Amino acid sequence: MTTLHFPLERTADAPLHRQIYEGVRSRILAGVLKPGQRLPSTRALAQDLAVSRQPVLAAYEQLLHEGYLEGRSGAGTYVCRALPDDLLASVSRMPSPRGERRRRPKHFATDVGRLMPFRIGIPALEHFPHALWARLVARHARHSTPADMVYGDPAGLPALRAAVAAHLRAARGVDCEPDQVLVVSGSQAALRLVAAVLLERGARVAIEEPGYFGARMAFDAHGAVLAHVPVDREGLRVDALRELAGGARAVYVTPSHQYPLGTTMSAARRLALLDWAREHDAWVLEDDYDSAFRYASRPLGALQGMREAARVIYIGTFSKTLFPALRVGYVVVPPELVPAFAEARVAFDVFSPTLYQKVLAEFLEEGHFERHLRRMRTVYEARRDALLDGLARFTGGRLEPVNADAGLQLAALLTAGEADRPLVRRLKEKNVTAVRLSACYYGGGPPQYGLLLGFSGSAEPELLAATRVLGEVLRASP
Ligand SMILES: Cc1ncc(COP(=O)(O)O)c(C=O)c1O
Repeated sequence: MTTLHFPLERTADAPLHRQIYEGVRSRILAGVLKPGQRLPSTRALAQDLAVSRQPVLAAYEQLLHEGYLEGRSGAGTYVCRALPDDLLASVSRMPSPRGERRRRPKHFATDVGRLMPFRIGIPALEHFPHALWARLVARHARHSTPADMVYGDPAGLPALRAAVAAHLRAARGVDCEPDQVLVVSGSQAALRLVAAVLLERGARVAIEEPGYFGARMAFDAHGAVLAHVPVDREGLRVDALRELAGGARAVYVTPSHQYPLGTTMSAARRLALLDWAREHDAWVLEDDYDSAFRYASRPLGALQGMREAARVIYIGTFSKTLFPALRVGYVVVPPELVPAFAEARVAFDVFSPTLYQKVLAEFLEEGHFERHLRRMRTVYEARRDALLDGLARFTGGRLEPVNADAGLQLAALLTAGEADRPLVRRLKEKNVTAVRLSACYYGGGPPQYGLLLGFSGSAEPELLAATRVLGEVLRASP
């Protein structure tokens, strides 16, 4: 039987169960405890650590819940066998809360940084229902017919389009029928497709300032001309949009959760934006990338559903709700544009892999998707709280979080007016990645300085450890 020893600090402000949790978890991540290895009983570990059984039970419970351990009834507790190796290897590269560095396995060298704390857009992958997903993939692969193995509909598998439409109507108030939904290879592909169908080369597209680099890249690649329109506390400034010399053919917005500042666009601005589009025969491109996660109130409905026949192209993705490597997203377009979108899709990559479309359709139809979203909201809220807690405890008021009530990342502004570029460089030296806010300004105006911090991809202890490093780096900064 394994024995475990690690020092506990009785005076530390971290409760005993948390210290035990961290002690066991860091040993799993470092590979000291191997998948399938049996852990000491709670009674034995409590004795070894000279504590009562209660905190050990609480720590094991949490580790079971997070999928690090598995219990076999009547047969003890084991390190989970299904922990993905790459997750173990990459997470183990992070400095532990006590600052020890782990050895870096060679074959993951290209993965450096991918699962580090504060990385944006990384879901809590250890909570993904791998076993269920694997079962569905295996079943659909086994039952593939010749019809599943030839060319599919460029607009997507009808079952998936129907399931996505049902989800969007119920969860986001999107006004759509299944045949208005096109399945695409993620939001990035959606933006290229939208540009190809709606924008002539050289057409002007307005985008939020600060804004999303992915959108800028897609429009740039299409040969569109970008116009940068500032955002304020209510979202994109429609008055500034109206004043654009030469107007715009389309405007790209993230109304549910502005990227990167996190603002929710006010109802007044939404209506003003829809008015602008109607008056100018222009399009609103609504990127609803992470609206499933809202902690302070119910998710707001999509802009697309606010008015009948609104001039809105709605874009969504499974990258945040499931995982980015899936490369599946969707676009909702007015019925009359469906043929043009399907035709343009053929020119890009024809259609998305049928196998994953079938798996996804079943995943949604059977309620697994909604269940997963409900579970993930709780996980992300706890992670968001840990990040806020860490920022409050360790950064001495020098980083002020803003709009932290939604999404998988939050912006924190530097309060003393210092630049963010040197800070990000010093953090990198300490193995902590963060996006600087000033990098999200493309229009040449004066940027706000701060950090964009992802919290979804790391568990609470990592986030606390990373904010501690952040605090140290800030204190050591001139
Ligand atoms: C604003 C925004 N839109 C969309 C996405 C998702 O892109 P994709 O669906 O191409 O993975 C992201 C991911 O980081 C994002 O931040």
